[in-house]
Amino acid sequence: MHPSSILFVCLGNICRSPMAEGVFKKILFREGIHQQFQVDSAGLIGYHQGELADSRMRAHASRREYNLTHRSRQVTKADFDKFDLIIGMDDQNIRGLNNIAQTPEQKAKIRRMTDFCVNMQATEVPDPYYGGAEGFEYVIDLLEDDCEGLLKSISTS
Ligand code: 4NP
Repeated sequence: MHPSSILFVCLGNICRSPMAEGVFKKILFREGIHQQFQVDSAGLIGYHQGELADSRMRAHASRREYNLTHRSRQVTKADFDKFDLIIGMDDQNIRGLNNIAQTPEQKAKIRRMTDFCVNMQATEVPDPYYGGAEGFEYVIDLLEDDCEGLLKSISTS
């Protein structure tokens, strides 16, 4: 059975993971399979709890016709039971997720976003928060490539 619930995780849940959620949901919608999936995002820190994605991330997203409506929330232990796949953006995220996961089954759900790269090559989706506009564009380029690969990987599993 292929995974049908996916949680994207970054540090603040205001830049990378809400963008990943938006990109993947749009792909599922394009494929007409969005009703078969549950897709959400969360952050390792709760500092931005309840906030919309960063205004710069939303501006770059809307230029590519993504509308990010997610409100930031912190990842919980319960997420490791609720979701089939939990996908982190960088080394720090993967370490943080492994610290929260309680059992081997829960740890086995953790993936790295860049493992799904198709055309691009990268080992992490870098935090764009303290950088400029090109950093946000690069994050979207990378997430679009990774999400196509993720869909392929799920479709063939
Ligand atoms: P994100 O970026 O992990 O891609 O949402 C960040 C946004 C805010 C903070 C860290 C990362 N922060 O520490 O406030």
